[in-house]
Amino acid sequence: MKKIFVQPVDKLVGKTEIPGDKSISHRSIMLGALADGKTTVKHFLLSDDCLNTIECFKELGVNIEVTGDEVVIHGQGIDGLKEPNDILEVGNSGTTMRLMAGILAGQSFASVLTGDATIRRRPMARVTEPLKLMGANIIGREQGNLAPLTIQGGSLKGIEYHSSVASAQVKSAILLAGLFADGWTEVKEPAKSRNHTELMLKGFQVELEESDLAVRIKGRQRLSPCDIYVPGDISSAAFLLVAGCLVPDSELTLLNVGLNHTRTGIIDVLSEMGARIEIRNRWNSGGEELGDLVVSTSSLKGVRIGGELIPRLIDEIPIIAIAAACASGVTEIRDAEELRVKESNRIAAICEQLSKLGVRIEELPDGLRIFGGKRLNGAVTQSYGDHRIALSLAIAGLVATEQVVIEGAGCIAVSFPNFVRTLENLGGKVLGQ
Ligand code: S3P
Repeated sequence: MKKIFVQPVDKLVGKTEIPGDKSISHRSIMLGALADGKTTVKHFLLSDDCLNTIECFKELGVNIEVTGDEVVIHGQGIDGLKEPNDILEVGNSGTTMRLMAGILAGQSFASVLTGDATIRRRPMARVTEPLKLMGANIIGREQGNLAPLTIQGGSLKGIEYHSSVASAQVKSAILLAGLFADGWTEVKEPAKSRNHTELMLKGFQVELEESDLAVRIKGRQRLSPCDIYVPGDISSAAFLLVAGCLVPDSELTLLNVGLNHTRTGIIDVLSEMGARIEIRNRWNSGGEELGDLVVSTSSLKGVRIGGELIPRLIDEIPIIAIAAACASGVTEIRDAEELRVKESNRIAAICEQLSKLGVRIEELPDGLRIFGGKRLNGAVTQSYGDHRIALSLAIAGLVATEQVVIEGAGCIAVSFPNFVRTLENLGGKVLGQ
């Protein structure tokens, strides 16, 4: 697997577009496939995860054309998917597996979903349990908790479901199954998770009822196709935001970044740590807010993070840990036990890799305590096959005393395929092998 070598640099300067949002790109294919006619998606994220979603829907008989970062989906309507000839492969993508489980549960055919070794270890009961309550017929190892999942689609009935985790994947799987169910389906979550599914369903003219933490959908509604512009992914922008804060004499402008409130916890936390971040040129596309972020070198201080903020920055905790290691004082991250079931056990991964960089760090059952203020060492580090760990370690390399080597960096293509080139254009020095 690919290794990268990141060198310390004196400054980072420039403007860059940020690749399209991963969550929104997946959803654009799924809803586009179910719509009555042609949906055009611009600034689609051509990463490994999203390409897997495209391949799965092609297997389900949907014609999808990709030209550069523009994708045209010839939607088949709500009853138009076809039984696949083979197993559906989601690769490393939890979003693909969980959201598709919701869609496939309501079809009139059988299908099998599987993915890479990581995805086959991640918990699926959080979606298969509520789907079974709706009447779905799903078989997997550990009573339906582990993929491969075999789904015999059939008729579903609406349910009222209180999820114990604040998870957009759980909420979305149930809402998508609700599209195929009789009657109303309601999902309530303990804290607000990202709401891209709800916003995009509305863009496709599906009616939803929303209150603070609950969403209701009426079954058997049709989807009218619509054109979508995918905002830059704030979860990818986060790496450059932290780089812009930490590297001396830097100023970076990140263009057209998604600023949906359910995702901007990273801006709130970095600002509280003392980051100089300005938002310019705000606009809106399909209900999603966007804007340019200008970040400059800042001296950061430690912070406490927990509670309802966690779902608003869940994917950014690895890079927040790098910011915390370079900040003065102590940072404590709590209520983030979900990190243990992401693409890797991120609490353990961050602890082990930051220790190699000379950081004093303590592993907590639901988070981390990071003692900042000491310059990072160079080291040979591992990604655990987790794109966000690899990307975070790459940013650490920009400010360490010596080069940081990241082994298993090929996974960066899961969410940020042009990362090395983007960083080089801003003044970063990265060698690949
Ligand atoms: C995602 C939701 C989040 C996030 C993941 C993408 C989505 O997971 O961590 O990277 O696209 O819905 P959970 O919903 O499980 O928290």
